[in-house]
Parts: sequence; C-alpha cells; structure tokens
Amino acid sequence: MPKYQPLLEKAYDRKDKEEVMSLYSDWAEHYDDELGDNEYVAPQRAAALFAEYVPDRTVHLIDIGCGTGLVGRFLVAHGFENIDGLDLSADMLAQAGKTGIYKKLIQADLTAGLKIADATYDAVISVGTFTHNHVGPQGLDEVLRIVKPGAIAGITVNGDAYVEDGYRAKFDQLVKDGICTIVNERDEDYIIARSIRGRVVTLKKT
Ligand SMILES: C[S@@+](CC[C@H](N)C(=O)[O-])C[C@H]1O[C@@H](n2cnc3c(N)ncnc32)[C@H](O)[C@@H]1O
Repeated sequence: MPKYQPLLEKAYDRKDKEEVMSLYSDWAEHYDDELGDNEYVAPQRAAALFAEYVPDRTVHLIDIGCGTGLVGRFLVAHGFENIDGLDLSADMLAQAGKTGIYKKLIQADLTAGLKIADATYDAVISVGTFTHNHVGPQGLDEVLRIVKPGAIAGITVNGDAYVEDGYRAKFDQLVKDGICTIVNERDEDYIIARSIRGRVVTLKKT
C-alpha cells in the first residue's frame, strides 16, 4: 500500500483554474512527502540564491505560490522572518499555515490581478509556480508590480517551459520595457529524481 497517491505526473497536464485548484486540494496533505521522495530541490536552491541577493533579513517579502510552505522553511533557515505567502489553493495555504512561518497568508489568483497595492513589498520569491499550465509568463507583471523599485525577485521557471511557454521572451520584454534588469540567471537541479532542470532568474525591479 503506497503511503500516498502519487500526483506529480498530473501536475503538468493541461488545466484550467478549477482543475489546478482541484489537483492541489487532493495533493495538499501529501505534497511534501511526494516532492521530498522525488528530490524536489528547487525551494532550497532558490532560497539560497535569493539570500545571496537580499542581505537584509528584516525585509518584508512575499512568497508567491507558497504552496505548503517549503520555500518559507528555507527562507527562515537563512534568517528571514517577515514573510507573507500567497497561493490560489486554500488547501495548500492551510498546510502553509501549520508551519507558523508566514505573517499573512493570502488566497488569490495571480492571473486575475491581485488586491495588493503597487510597491508593497521589499522583495519577492516564487518557486515552482511558473511552470506548465499553472501561471503563465504574464503573471510576472503582477509579481513586479507589487514590489518596490530596487526590489529583488527570485523566480524559478520549469526548465522545459522556459522557452516553450514564452518565459524567455517575457523576461527579454520586461528588460526592454525598463521594468527590471536580470542580475543572475542560471540552470539548476529542480526535481532530481525526474531529471527535471529549472531556470532560476533573479530580477531587480527598476
Ligand atoms: C508546484 S506548487 C509550488 C509550491 C511551493 N512554492 C513549492 O515550491 O513547494 C505550485 C503552487 O502554485 C499555486 N498556483 C497555481 N496557479 C496559481 C495562480 N493562478 N495563482 C496563485 N497560485 C497559483 C498552486 O496552488 C501551488 O501551490
């Protein structure tokens, strides 16, 4: 008897918003176990790089697509303490709430426009959310809107989706439009057991 029903294979299927919510509702309780078993290292790698670019550990930051809070755990390990989380799924947020890490948890759809004022946050991180059939490249506009000028945004993009789904082109456009600069961009392990690589892009809001 497996300890959980594996759902990782289903994560990248074509979906609308309701299907994404339903997937994460089913997944929330066992997400950390399955991702741990598959050596999902993106949260750890992205948090470490983010910490290099954000030396002030007191900044008010937001974890977009925070899920169960895996990224928050690593941010706390690096000394960050003023962290809000945002996610579409109430069930994933319920798990994140149990960690006690996040000051505020916000249920919202990044693709529908956020009820967060311009330039609210000092920094933003988003891991595992810019991937196939979750949030498309246009979601980056909202991520950059809600941070202050000079803020760092640490973003992971699933390696296969990076060019295929238009992320490469979107980053180029954001730079061309003067919204941000790219301060670092690198290939990283993402889900090791599935041989999935990721792109970790560090942006600085203009
Ligand atoms: C693969 S999980 C990543 C969770 C966490 N950041 C991590 O690395 O474990 C993707 C998360 O994105 C959230 N998500 C998907 N579509 C979203 C949307 N339109 N707006 C906000 N969050 C969304 C899902 O609910 C899910 O928690």
